[in-house]
Amino acid sequence: MDDLKAKYLSQIADAADETGLEDIRIAAVGKKGEVALKMRELGKMTPEERQIAGPALNALKDEINSALSAKKAALADAALDERLRTEWLDVSLPSRPTRTGTIHPISQVSEEVTAIFAEMGFSVAEGPRIDTDWYNFDALNIPGHHPARAEMDTFYMHRAEGDNRPPHVLRTHTSPVQIRSMEASGAPTRIICPGGVYRADYDQTHTPMFHQVEGLAIDKDISMANLKWVLEEFVKSYFEVDGVDLRFRASHFPFTEPSAEVDIRCSWEGGTLKVGEGDDWLEILGSGMVHPKVLQAGGIDPEEWQGFAFGMGIDRIAMLKYGVPDLRAFFDSDLRWLRHYGFSALDVPTLHGGLSR
Ligand code: DAH
Repeated sequence: MDDLKAKYLSQIADAADETGLEDIRIAAVGKKGEVALKMRELGKMTPEERQIAGPALNALKDEINSALSAKKAALADAALDERLRTEWLDVSLPSRPTRTGTIHPISQVSEEVTAIFAEMGFSVAEGPRIDTDWYNFDALNIPGHHPARAEMDTFYMHRAEGDNRPPHVLRTHTSPVQIRSMEASGAPTRIICPGGVYRADYDQTHTPMFHQVEGLAIDKDISMANLKWVLEEFVKSYFEVDGVDLRFRASHFPFTEPSAEVDIRCSWEGGTLKVGEGDDWLEILGSGMVHPKVLQAGGIDPEEWQGFAFGMGIDRIAMLKYGVPDLRAFFDSDLRWLRHYGFSALDVPTLHGGLSR
C-alpha cells in the first residue's frame, strides 16, 4: 500500500493537465483501478486481517482522491492565470482617433427629408432608374411632341435595330414613381420618393446624375392649402428654423393643374444664406394639383380623387443647408471634401433627436 501511495501521489504531482490527471484517477481509484482491485482481495482475508487492511485501503483511497482534487484546482488556477496573462487588455488605452468613413451629405439629406415626411404620414416609394418613356413622359401628360421632352436633355437607352420594345430612358425626374405607386397601391395614398435622376447637362449647378425627392398625396378632398401647410412644415423642420415665408408663384408643369413653383424667404447677407428672414426669395421646388390625366394614367378615377404633388432637388437643398458652393463636388469622391462635409454614421437624423447634429 505504501508503494501504491508513493506511486500515485508522485504521478499526481507531475500531471501536466486535466486529461493526464483523469487518466491517473481512472488507473488509481476508478472502478477497475488498482485500489478497487485491492479492495476485492479483502474477501479472501481473515476477519482480523480485514479489520486492518479495510480501513487502510479506505484511507489510501481518500488520500489519493484529495490529492487529485487539490491538483485539479491547482491546474485550473494555472490555466486561468495563463489566460489572464495572454488575453490581457489595457482598457485605459485611448481608442483609435481616426474616423474611417462619413455619411455623404446627399445620404444625410435624404434621411433628413424622409424623417420629416414620415412624421407627416408619408411612406417611401421607389421606382427604377431605367424606365420606359411611357412612365417618364406619356403617363405624366408629356406627349411625344411636347417641348418638355427636349428640354429635359434625356438619355435614351440604345436599342439594336429591329428591337421593337418601347424606348427606355434614364429617368429624368422622380415623377414616374407617382404613376408606379398609384398603380401599386391606388388611392388614398401619401408617398415620397427620393432617388437619383439623369439629364445630359454639366456645369456648376448641373451634373448628369443628381437627386430629387417626389411627393404625392391623394385623397377625396386634398387641396392646395394642404400642399402649402405640408411644405411649410417641411421647410421649417429641414432648415431647423421656427418660421418661414413661402411664396407660391404660378407656373406650368404638364403633370399638374394648377401648378406652382415655391420660393422661400431668405437673406444672403455677408455671403451666407439665412432662411426665414431678409428680402430675397429662393426657389426650392415645383408643385401643384395632380392633373386628371395623370390620375387616369395611374388607374385612379379623377371624378372621385384628387391630390397634390411636388418635386424638389435633394442636391440643391443640401447645397443650401450645408453651404456647398459647387454641385459637382458631390460626385468627385474627394476624400478631403468627404471628411469636411460628411456626417457621423452614428448620428441618424430624427425629428426628436435632431436632424443635423
Ligand atoms: N418633375 C419636375 C422636374 O423634374 C418637378 C416637379 C414639379 C414634380 C411639379 C412634381 C410637380 O411632382 O408637381 O422638374
